[in-house]
Amino acid sequence: MISRATIDLIFQTAQIDEVIGEFVHLKKAGSNYKGLSPFSDERTPSFMVSPTKQIWKDFSSGKGGSVVTFLMEHEHFTYPEALRYLAKKYNIEIEELQQTDEQKLEANERESMFLVTQFAADYFHLNLINTSQGKAIGLSYFKERGFTDETIKKFKLGYALNDRDAFTKAALNKGFQIDYLAKTGLTIVNEQSDFDRFKGRVLFPILSMSGRVLGFGGRILTSDKNVAKYLNSPESDIYHKGKVLYGLFEAKQAIAKADNCYLVEGYTDVISLHQNGIENVVASSGTALTPDQIRLISRLTKNITVLYDGDAPGIKASFRGVDLILAEGLNVKVLTFPDGDDPDSFARKSSQAEIKEFLETQVKDFITFKVSLLLEETKNDPIKKAGLIREIVLSISKIPDLIQREIYLQECARLMNISESVLFNELAQHLKKSNTQTIQQLQQIQKEAFQVVKTEAPSDINTLFVLEKAIIKILLLYGNNEVEFVDFVANTNADGLELMEEQIIVNTVAKEIYLQLQEDEIEFSNELFKTIYFDIIHQLNQDEKINIDAFVTHKSPDIAQVITDILMEDEKYLISNWELKKIYPPKIADKLSQWVTDTILNLRRILILQKIEALKKEVQESPQLQLLEQVQNYIHLKKLLCEKLKRVV
Ligand code: CTP
Ligand code: MN
Repeated sequence: MISRATIDLIFQTAQIDEVIGEFVHLKKAGSNYKGLSPFSDERTPSFMVSPTKQIWKDFSSGKGGSVVTFLMEHEHFTYPEALRYLAKKYNIEIEELQQTDEQKLEANERESMFLVTQFAADYFHLNLINTSQGKAIGLSYFKERGFTDETIKKFKLGYALNDRDAFTKAALNKGFQIDYLAKTGLTIVNEQSDFDRFKGRVLFPILSMSGRVLGFGGRILTSDKNVAKYLNSPESDIYHKGKVLYGLFEAKQAIAKADNCYLVEGYTDVISLHQNGIENVVASSGTALTPDQIRLISRLTKNITVLYDGDAPGIKASFRGVDLILAEGLNVKVLTFPDGDDPDSFARKSSQAEIKEFLETQVKDFITFKVSLLLEETKNDPIKKAGLIREIVLSISKIPDLIQREIYLQECARLMNISESVLFNELAQHLKKSNTQTIQQLQQIQKEAFQVVKTEAPSDINTLFVLEKAIIKILLLYGNNEVEFVDFVANTNADGLELMEEQIIVNTVAKEIYLQLQEDEIEFSNELFKTIYFDIIHQLNQDEKINIDAFVTHKSPDIAQVITDILMEDEKYLISNWELKKIYPPKIADKLSQWVTDTILNLRRILILQKIEALKKEVQESPQLQLLEQVQNYIHLKKLLCEKLKRVV
């Protein structure tokens, strides 16, 4: 775990405009920078970076946050990965915390293995492009397959010399320990001697989502039927076949942007498509698709298009994988290539425009595809057709989303020319079998959910949300400002009469809000705002003032997101060039005291209104004098408040 001190140092050191500037072309706009959103295709910039607040906001997608959340969104790093990236960029040494000796050892082991695989990738790549054997055998092979220099570099393709232990020797020479060479599987250690796993093969390094080298796939260059075409790194502490997708590192941005991921079988399919401008593509590398792999994709998009080679047996074998995708709640489309072609061979013989058109026009919805494929086989065979229906319904039963499930059922009924209710019954049986709730139950839940939405008064909820948000905004932006407030204090005059007198007090905005809310025992209804509010008050009690940075860099992404949204709200004006049009957003700071008081009074008003509504309901159910009196009191209170707010009741 990275220590808090290191995290703080990273946040202090990292310049948000500098970091984001490496991914987005930024232009100065007032005290901010703006640019085209990297999360959507747009022509007018709606992406904003504030160096003073150290936050960013993408108005087209609604995303926003700190420098770290940017890296998490854009590079799809995990939190620690983003921190490590920044630490590396700014030469900050990372202090690790709270690791047991065992954990430290493990982490060190993995790090040592990564050093080896990284060295190996560099070494094999240089072999390919610099040695005479590499050039004559490896490079010419890739060239023959149509890979350009740029592609070879992008995927860091390599070549293992046709030598017993050239790699092992080179690595040992560089000071790597044989232990880690063995653990990564690059060197095979036995009693007599140590030798290289890969020799005389071209190599495809397999990267993690964040770009670290996990292992290699090595293709033989001859067409010797007795030797496996591909030899892969063995499973190790850093390489788990079922948790990796080839090409994901190179494809992740394109996948998120296109909101779709093409899934192919082989290394060469990925590379060929890339070279032809289709970059949102990954490969399962010949193994059966696993839920872990699907989850990797689902971090980027909910849409997968499976590209099949043009032979039917292969397609059927992969139906299970597709069911897994459905079960993860993702949408699946499929596309088959002409007989005898795989994506690689098809890409090689077609122009870029042809490939694009093919992908766009030939894509089919999975269920429809499965029905039409199997329907062909079961023509005129009622028994087989019944089996087919079951098969299809089984696929549909995997879909977690109710509405989507129903749409598929309707579509199936139409395609198979069978009544919907029959399919529905079949589905209900599957659901019962798999021990999930029956359709009826689910429909009941759905109905109830709709009713709840209907009975709640949306306007009140909205107002409450707006007011609570306003309070948080005031606290964050002006909480430390000192302002004069008008207070009413009870004074006894010379005649012994109690008078309410106006008194001016100076207080920080935060303290004033705290006092006023506490007085009325007001609680926030929105859970996020509530948490933020408590955090702010806690900070206020500890340090006497509010420090926004702590919230922007909050460990909870939800909170960090809300905070950035609030802080960037006013920047919207800038984005739409309001200043040029001479329309200015209201200058809040001038009327701060008034704004604070009004907001809190309004909040009280809404809460009282809610209270009155609740009491009225109670009265209807059991008329009691006591309750009626309470209603009266609250109505009176409301009147007073409205007077203060200079509102007509
Ligand atoms: N594969 C493997 N081991 C094998 C055969 C295949 O690991 N003996 C994996 C590889 O990841 C390969 C994928 O399965 O990329 C698909 O196999 P295939 O279609 O046979 O290979 P291609 O990638 O098409 O390779 P090429 O075009 O060079 O024949
Ligand atoms: Mn191929």
